[in-house]
Amino acid sequence: MAFPAGFGWGAATAAYQVEGGWDADGRGPCVWDTFTHQGGERVFKNQTGDVACGSYTLWEEDLKCIKQLGLTHYRFSLSWSRLLPDGTTGFINQKGIDYYNKVINDLLAHGVTPLVTIYHFDLPQALEDQGGWLSEAIIDIFDRYAQFCFRTFGDRVKQWITINEPNTYALIAYEMGIFAPGVPHPGTGGYQAAHNMIKAHARSWHSYNSLFRREQKGMVSLSLFFGWSEPADPNSVPDREATMRVISFTLDFFAKPIFIDGDYPELVKSRVASMSKKQGYPSSRLPEFTEEEKKMIKGTADFFAVQYYTTRFVKYQENKKGELGFIQDMEIDYFPDPSWKGVGWIYFVPWGIRKLLKYIKDTYNNPVIYITENGFPQRDPPSLDDTQRWEYFRQTFQELLRAIHVDGVNLQLYCAWSLLDNFEWNDGYNTRFGLFHVDFEDPARPRAPYTSAKEYAKVIKNNGLEGSS
Ligand code: NOJ
Repeated sequence: MAFPAGFGWGAATAAYQVEGGWDADGRGPCVWDTFTHQGGERVFKNQTGDVACGSYTLWEEDLKCIKQLGLTHYRFSLSWSRLLPDGTTGFINQKGIDYYNKVINDLLAHGVTPLVTIYHFDLPQALEDQGGWLSEAIIDIFDRYAQFCFRTFGDRVKQWITINEPNTYALIAYEMGIFAPGVPHPGTGGYQAAHNMIKAHARSWHSYNSLFRREQKGMVSLSLFFGWSEPADPNSVPDREATMRVISFTLDFFAKPIFIDGDYPELVKSRVASMSKKQGYPSSRLPEFTEEEKKMIKGTADFFAVQYYTTRFVKYQENKKGELGFIQDMEIDYFPDPSWKGVGWIYFVPWGIRKLLKYIKDTYNNPVIYITENGFPQRDPPSLDDTQRWEYFRQTFQELLRAIHVDGVNLQLYCAWSLLDNFEWNDGYNTRFGLFHVDFEDPARPRAPYTSAKEYAKVIKNNGLEGSS
């Protein structure tokens, strides 16, 4: 069976992970520059994105990879601090505009549609210094940045992601302090950051809608991460309820307000309120949306963008001591099946993606779905003949075909993560997700295709898997 005619085939990257050129041509520092330069072994071998894949100067090499794959779409992100060095439109860096203009124009000249992420984890340091995503002021500032992007590139870019994985970033950066800026705020920071991210996204969607949509005719959404979750014991009511809480606290937390009614899931609201009460807080640690904000947030996405990597089993685990934290609020334990093979946090579970897509179809009124990231890594040193990894992609495509043809899911685009091996946040260059190998020891950063790239190119060419059913 083939994919539907016109199905989009992409690969994705993100600015800080591939560009390098961290201080080139007037780029301002972002939180990852500060974080990696501080050292302290928070990143594998204290590696940094200072040079990364060098895509800032080696864009033409990336374009060759894109052509070799035959991609219909390329997803990349704009470095906020390359365009606006202090994060505000007070000073605009023309060199940054020139770079992205070249990328966009080259893609279009080669028949490749750009899918552009406005913000992918790399907040300008100047904005972090004013409170970052914990401060409400960021909502207005983000909206102005997004408007600047629409105004500058929107004549050619028609598919936009405002914020990449706000659910991951709020949790790992502002709750746990593992990602930059690296300061933990258990039980409060994740909710506060997420709250501001939802409002910032919604505001910028409205800006697009009222100021740019008529002329530019594009689409705007945000990319949500979800690791599929299954009850450890399907016959256990506490395990089934715990699994529902994982879905509510991570995926629905963002998707329900944005796609349904402007407000958080009841399960999340009641649970954080009761935990907060037990802990002696005067009110819930989860901020509330006003009625006006709910109206503003509801319906602010033009398609459903989701990123899937892996699956976990979930068990109820009582928070006996009333510990403070996002995971503790859910009262869950979260683990892989011992038979699953894994690299780092990613276990080989291609079937989870079909369940996730079906859940989105059923819960969110059968939306158009884009998979804006999916992939499986190798540890360094990798093998160019990555047949095992290709098996993950191949089985994933089988699951996608079933989702489309059996479950009736309206999936229209798939992006592999990633075009290139790149800076994998705290894992540095030790975890390689690329379809193309990058030699990080060589100053020329040569790219070479893995077996997965060659196989993916065939899938794209055939718009399907050969001999699959
Ligand atoms: C999702 C993030 O968007 C991306 O930056 C990251 O590299 C991949 N997950 C793999 O962990």
